[in-house]
Amino acid sequence: MLQGKCVVLGVSGGIAAYKAAELLRLLVKAGAEVHVVMTRNAQEFIAPLTFQTLSGNPVHTDLFNLIQEQEIGHISLADRADLVLVAPATANLVGKVANGIADDLLTTTIMATRTKVLFAPAMNSNMWSNPVYRQNQTKLEGLGYHFIEPAYGDLACGWQGPGKLPDPQVIFTAAQTLLGTNELSGKTVLVTAGPTREELDPVRFLSNYSSGKMGYAIARAARNRGARVILISGPVNLPEPAGVETIQVVSAQDMFQAVMAQAGQADLIIKAAAVADFRPKLRGAQKTKKGTAEALTVELQRNPDILAELGRQKGKRILVGFAAETQDLLKHAREKLVNKNLDMIVANDVTQEGAGFDGDTNIVRLLTGDGKIEELPQMSKDGVAEILLDRMIALLPSG
Ligand code: CTP
Repeated sequence: MLQGKCVVLGVSGGIAAYKAAELLRLLVKAGAEVHVVMTRNAQEFIAPLTFQTLSGNPVHTDLFNLIQEQEIGHISLADRADLVLVAPATANLVGKVANGIADDLLTTTIMATRTKVLFAPAMNSNMWSNPVYRQNQTKLEGLGYHFIEPAYGDLACGWQGPGKLPDPQVIFTAAQTLLGTNELSGKTVLVTAGPTREELDPVRFLSNYSSGKMGYAIARAARNRGARVILISGPVNLPEPAGVETIQVVSAQDMFQAVMAQAGQADLIIKAAAVADFRPKLRGAQKTKKGTAEALTVELQRNPDILAELGRQKGKRILVGFAAETQDLLKHAREKLVNKNLDMIVANDVTQEGAGFDGDTNIVRLLTGDGKIEELPQMSKDGVAEILLDRMIALLPSG
């Protein structure tokens, strides 16, 4: 896919520098010619030989090495590159570029290039939110530099928050988009995420533990691959992804209406939302008072099955559902695949450690209409999203 593309991979000195090796492997596997430029600090974290071996090219480290300069020259590297990709990009590196400092080979290459530059920042979450850093990134974005938002999670410094280098696969697909080699350009992807809330009265509701993380990861991944993405989300505590059209809903009925209004435009639909199957038959206009009652019975009534309705109006669309189960996983997942007329279902046993609603990882199996089952190991939700999209793209009618 990246045959004939020249990528300069800049590695600056953060603990995540080792992940750049995996990113390099993905770029080379896709056919790109990759030249790695490391800062001095990056070499404290990972040896240049690793990158040299994986790229098959010498690694450039020193601005003033005359032999290196003769062979490649930072100006020629900067000229030849189709993309300069910096991963990880430290706060220091971004700060230097934003302020015109070019005091090593990497910052000089970035300064000298006229091609696209993509930064994948990774740093401590306080540094990430520091106004000085924010200003630097905003300034560069305003000047046309590209950024990938960092992932949220446990950081090497012991903090939890935004600042983690995203999965190499996520960075790779963002690079692909900028290189214009993306499989989802021109396609519309509709994703639902999160729980729904079914109100009992103005202060109470029925819901479930869905965090929305899986659906949001899919929306970001589809956006990174060049798709127009419509995300229909129940109430969650996640930031709306940049570059995604997000529609906020509350109840299953709201979600039903929003999905049906948008589905006509979609080429691929992924229903990751955990939709409540029932809602209270009556919604109290005022807060329900307990009075002297020892028990209370709430009558529930069925919500529309959004996915089943989409299955009935499927057309040429690729339709994928989720099955969150606590028992007989494969049996229930297969029934849903068939009954809802899906192309694929993502089955996960939500009782398993490392899988399910709230965590950052998932353990899933992908079941397709041809009877095949693909078992994926435990991985980040971002990683699951990428593989899921790979499989969906393979199902798209060609041409
Ligand atoms: N779903 C939906 N609308 C509903 C219920 C579920 O669109 N009213 C979708 C979910 O988004 C998910 C899939 O159907 O993609 C399976 O949801 P799940 O809750 O696992 O199963 P149900 O269909 O509700 O079946 P059951 O209650 O038997 O588990």
